[in-house]
Amino acid sequence: MSRLVAPRLSLYLHFPWCVRKCPYCDFNSYTLNGQLQEAGYLEALERDLETQAPEVAGREVISVFMGGGTPSLFPPSAIDRVLAAARRHLTFASDVEVTMEANPGTIERGRFTEYRAAGVNRVSLGAQSFEARTLQVLGRIHSPDETRRAAEELHAAGLINFNLDLMYALPGQDVAAALADVESAIALKPTHLSHYQLTLEPGTVFAAQPPADLPTDDTAAEILAVCGARLAEAGFGQYEVSAYAQPGRQCRHNLNYWTFGDYLGVGAGAHGKITHAGAIIRTTQSRDPRRYMAAPTATRTPVPEAQRPFEFMLNALRLIDGFEIATFEQRTGLPWETVVREVETLLTRKLLEVQGPRLRTTMVGMRFLNNLLLSFLEETPQTTGAFGLSTAI
Ligand SMILES: C[S@@+](CC[C@H](N)C(=O)[O-])C[C@H]1O[C@@H](n2cnc3c(N)ncnc32)[C@H](O)[C@@H]1O
Ligand code: SF4
Repeated sequence: MSRLVAPRLSLYLHFPWCVRKCPYCDFNSYTLNGQLQEAGYLEALERDLETQAPEVAGREVISVFMGGGTPSLFPPSAIDRVLAAARRHLTFASDVEVTMEANPGTIERGRFTEYRAAGVNRVSLGAQSFEARTLQVLGRIHSPDETRRAAEELHAAGLINFNLDLMYALPGQDVAAALADVESAIALKPTHLSHYQLTLEPGTVFAAQPPADLPTDDTAAEILAVCGARLAEAGFGQYEVSAYAQPGRQCRHNLNYWTFGDYLGVGAGAHGKITHAGAIIRTTQSRDPRRYMAAPTATRTPVPEAQRPFEFMLNALRLIDGFEIATFEQRTGLPWETVVREVETLLTRKLLEVQGPRLRTTMVGMRFLNNLLLSFLEETPQTTGAFGLSTAI
């Protein structure tokens, strides 16, 4: 009999447009040309919600994440309408976490107060860096001062539970400059900080024409260590490869992904994962906003048992505290024996370790996470060199 237990449920809503596409970004986002197709897109989101909701009937939504692209291109009235539709079709937990991503270059004065009134209670602000020259190289549409002003607006609106996205190992950046960025971020009093190593994603402008003066791997590793220590000193505990939070302020939504929880994926290119009737189903929507608006119907693909250990580990081994064996069995529906041989090998190689009832990645394992994860693929290709640390987002 399957051990699958339906886990906690989240909702992801995707907003695919940005003022300008950044040269490093491979998210499903498009430069906005002309008018925002607000009415058409909202209508499609509502149809999508209505279609998917029955599959999770009776289950509580513990978190909502409005990501992009740039959701803050949409006015508060639009966010209000989407959240109202979600509440009509789904059951929100009384303490539901509702996060909205915002680009500091799109925030007009007073906007955050209105987003809050629409139901947003957490914001993730894309700061990236506080160095004007670096922001220009990254193709960002805002200055460091606009980020500071957006953070002040958040505090003024009472949205004190907010995250800042920072990137590091940026063109021309040394350890001191990366640390200065972290210092500037801490000064804005966020409750959460995401610290992503810049990756050259296939298909992006940066992958085709890499910036000339990228820091070496050694510098990147030093930045990670020095900035991590500074964040710890300021009270931010690292709980995932790229995520740091004040006590009790971990992102509930992302934690649900990393513990292989369920989520409805609504919007252009959105992915979902639903445990239903003894199966795990992945859903995918059309990436192209026009196609999505014409037919917001998800493609559904079951996750075969043989793939589940890899998919589970891909998420859970990113967590600094790892996971409990019972969680593996409940989320994948498989007995622990399925992976025990691979786990024992990794324990012997000191890439994994046992911590009380939990299994977690060691510090060395974190450096070679991609390589380590290959052990859980159905057919393990023989690899020689070790992979670098991934900061997938
Ligand atoms: C969807 S964006 C955040 C919201 C908004 N679009 C913005 O950029 O302000 C998610 C975050 O992923 C990070 N990111 C995107 N591409 C990346 C890359 N190639 N390497 C590292 N981090 C990246 C950035 O920190 C970015 O803020
Ligand atoms: S990083 Fe953010 S603003 Fe830049 S293109 Fe990607 S989603 Fe848009």
